[in-house]
Amino acid sequence: MVLCVVVLHPQHLVCKDRLIMLICRRWLAFSLKGQCRSLSLSASRRIIMPAWVIDKYGDNNVLRFSKNVFLPIIHFPNEVIIKVHAAALNPIDISMRGGYGITTLALKRDFLDLSEKGKEFPLILGRDVSGEIMECGLAVNLFKPGDQVWAAIPPWKQGSLAEFVVVSANEVAHKPRSLEHVEAASIPYVAETAWSAIVNTGGLNKDNSAKKRQLTATTPMDSHESTSLGTSSNPCAPRLRAPIETNLLSLEALSVLILGGSGGVGTIAIQMLKAWGAHVTVTCSYDAKSLVRDLGADDVVDYTAEPPEKQLQSLPKFDLILDNIGGETEKWAPSLLKPWSGAKFVTLVTPFLNNADRLGAVDGMLQSGATLGCKMIKIRAVVEKVFTFAEVPKAFEKVEQGHARGKTVVTVAKHL
Ligand SMILES: NC(=O)c1ccc[n+]([C@@H]2O[C@H](COP(=O)([O-])OP(=O)(O)OC[C@H]3O[C@@H](n4cnc5c(N)ncnc54)[C@H](OP(=O)(O)O)[C@@H]3O)[C@@H](O)[C@H]2O)c1
Repeated sequence: MVLCVVVLHPQHLVCKDRLIMLICRRWLAFSLKGQCRSLSLSASRRIIMPAWVIDKYGDNNVLRFSKNVFLPIIHFPNEVIIKVHAAALNPIDISMRGGYGITTLALKRDFLDLSEKGKEFPLILGRDVSGEIMECGLAVNLFKPGDQVWAAIPPWKQGSLAEFVVVSANEVAHKPRSLEHVEAASIPYVAETAWSAIVNTGGLNKDNSAKKRQLTATTPMDSHESTSLGTSSNPCAPRLRAPIETNLLSLEALSVLILGGSGGVGTIAIQMLKAWGAHVTVTCSYDAKSLVRDLGADDVVDYTAEPPEKQLQSLPKFDLILDNIGGETEKWAPSLLKPWSGAKFVTLVTPFLNNADRLGAVDGMLQSGATLGCKMIKIRAVVEKVFTFAEVPKAFEKVEQGHARGKTVVTVAKHL
């Protein structure tokens, strides 16, 4: 406990010079080697690392590679430092590069220090990470240096397009052994998003996606068998057999429509819902039909062939609609829900952070549980394209162009 105070102390000193803080901390860590259960000192002599940063908001030109970014440090006892093996990009990285949610994210980063504009720079983007634990805060029990992990990093924290990233232990999970780092990096952020939309907001889960319906089967009258209805006064009268109640369980799948099923969120959402027994209808463009079918989609509507609202009208109504597209869809899609049944329309395309900036709200939907929804389900990673660490700007271009078919991943450790 004493050690905890000593190691964390430099961060809370008045001293503003981060370099001195880092040296202090590294020196303390080094001198206390052997006394600390959870500190790995593998990176202890270094204070800088390579990373892709932005120093202002804008287009792809603001991305800058630097070899001299300060190594992240543990500020709180529940934090861990991860050596990044692979990172993945999401549409939010493009938005954040352009300044999405500036005020709200600044408040989340440092709610006391409102005056300093641009304090977040140099800002590291990248919300997904798969890698290896290098160092653990003293309150971390579930992880140790060397553990292979994956995590979704909240948008107000420094991201994963760097050699190392620091996150809270509760944002991290052990990486499934069956997945390589590149595959693993493609899952956390979209899985959390899909989970938050389908489970937390949509109310579906593994137990209710296929609704159990009890059927009572009755057998026809039988004159030769005894009855539990008692004896008839007429011995010649056919004796009635009581209806035998056999409780048959029939599974009636709930019906879910995913608008835009071929991107990062859609490809995970299809798999989650199919694993839970739901009936899944997906809209996507023609060339993505085989991908979404392979992932389990039952009905596929090509939105490029004919207006999707027209095609979907002829299908039975839905219990849940997950909208990854937004805009016009919000006008016509709610009419496809089953009426009077508690059916829900959940949209992921929300100007939440922009509104929050304008209106002053503080929290975002992404703050919802950090548990990775996919840990109970066999999820297939859908990696569309892998870029090297040197190619990060190209990776941003790819995501910005749209038409994703799964995820864009960047390999990091391999290329340093
Ligand atoms: N990634 C996250 O974790 C996350 C978190 C919060 C919110 N969101 C938001 O949720 C939305 C989806 O995210 P994502 O990561 O899945 O995006 P994405 O990877 O870019 O995928 C979007 C997919 O939608 C398809 N599409 C575009 N227009 C369509 C239409 N009219 N009908 C059907 N499909 C269409 C695109 O392919 P084609 O253009 O070739 O059809 C692409 O496959 C985005 O608006 C994002 O900002 C995402």
